[in-house]
Amino acid sequence: MNITFPENFWWGAATSGPQSEGRFNKKQANVFDYWYEIEPEAFYEQVGPDTASNFYNSYKKDISMMKEIGLNSFRTSIQWSRLIDDFEEGTVNEDGVRFYNAVIDECIAQGIRPVINLVHFDLPAVLQEQYGGWESKHVVDLYVKFATQCFQLFGDRVSDWFTFNEPLVIVDGAYLYQFHYPNLVDGKKAVQVAYNLTLASAKAIAAYRRVNKNKEGKIGTILNLTPSYPATQSPEDQSAAHFANLWMNDMFLDAAVKGSFPKDLVEILKKDNVLWDSTEEETNIINTNRIDVLGVNFYHPHRVKQPSISSDSLAVNWMPNKYFDNYDMPGRRMNVDKGWEIYPQALYDIALNIRDNYDNIPWFVSENGMGVSKEERYLNADGVIEDDYRIQFIQEHLYWVAKGISEGSNCFGYHLWTPIDCWSWKNAYRNRYGLISNNIHTQVKTIKKSGYWFKNVAEENKFIMPDDLI
Ligand code: BG6
Repeated sequence: MNITFPENFWWGAATSGPQSEGRFNKKQANVFDYWYEIEPEAFYEQVGPDTASNFYNSYKKDISMMKEIGLNSFRTSIQWSRLIDDFEEGTVNEDGVRFYNAVIDECIAQGIRPVINLVHFDLPAVLQEQYGGWESKHVVDLYVKFATQCFQLFGDRVSDWFTFNEPLVIVDGAYLYQFHYPNLVDGKKAVQVAYNLTLASAKAIAAYRRVNKNKEGKIGTILNLTPSYPATQSPEDQSAAHFANLWMNDMFLDAAVKGSFPKDLVEILKKDNVLWDSTEEETNIINTNRIDVLGVNFYHPHRVKQPSISSDSLAVNWMPNKYFDNYDMPGRRMNVDKGWEIYPQALYDIALNIRDNYDNIPWFVSENGMGVSKEERYLNADGVIEDDYRIQFIQEHLYWVAKGISEGSNCFGYHLWTPIDCWSWKNAYRNRYGLISNNIHTQVKTIKKSGYWFKNVAEENKFIMPDDLI
């Protein structure tokens, strides 16, 4: 069966500054640089972000490899801690400016559309230490200074801007479930941070609209959408799923697209005495500065059931899990290396949800992918990794994206995570996601079988879906 895509579809891949560049020539540390300095054992095999995939030094060659596998667009992020020297003043680092100019120009020279994101979990460490990071509205304003610099420096050539990658992961990782520095467990702060990140995004959008002179220019945000499905149709499980969806998806999505937070969520947070501190002026900023486009990161669905813990045990410290438990559905299909369920149909549910409930806003799959350990297992005699599992994973997800598009959802692209195996937060190089492999000892990069396959799909703007996968 032929699966076809609209004209000018974005075929690309995404990475981030901190995961690809390496720390070369960086004056300032981000929170992950800093965390690695003080606690290297928190990272898989004690591998930190110092070299990453060496993009700072090898960007030209890397971009030409991206060209070789047919990418027409590529997302990375500008590291705040590389571009800015003085965070209060917003003054720039000359080498940072040179580097990002060179990357953007090289993409354009190679015919690849540069898609630029501003924060990919990489808050400057000093702002966390001095002000409590995103807990502080002063940091929100410093972020707007950084964003404005980016728009002014690069906005003539970059038309596709994103304010944040996965703000919910900052909330979850740093304030609830302890997988991002500073590893706090503090529900009240988590709620405030969620609000401050929303405010920061809206203020950056306002700044963009003030300074942008590029007629093609668009700005959006990138959200990890994780549809929450109830274990059963019982009212208790359904209400657990309702809350999980409010917290994990609708909180950021409603604010970004509709300009206000979901009423049900606000009521619950108010009742629980954890509602964020906000002003009318801020609410107006959020309301009037909505996104033009949406990036959706999708990896896995979320299965939920009614909570088993009594809410009294959470009386001291509010947690979203007060309202739901995770549910390990028997028989679900898993990527065992990463521990994530594989459920491609969720992308169709997302597509229709955006079509029906979010003004059918233009959106693209900004990340999707499969992290696999020890991929040397799949090396063939020619030294190419035969990652048929990744090809199948992409085919199945694209199938549901195409179905959503055929039913009217306004999806304009698909970006895989990631072009070249890159460093990952705590997992370092344990799971590989790339279309191109990276030997982290030699930095030799080699196209995988999926890279050749992807090139073909990008060039043809279609692929043949194997019958047994439908
Ligand atoms: C996404 C992030 O959520 O997942 C990426 O935006 C990340 O930064 C990717 O690398 C894969 O997750 P992990 O933890 O396996 O790297």
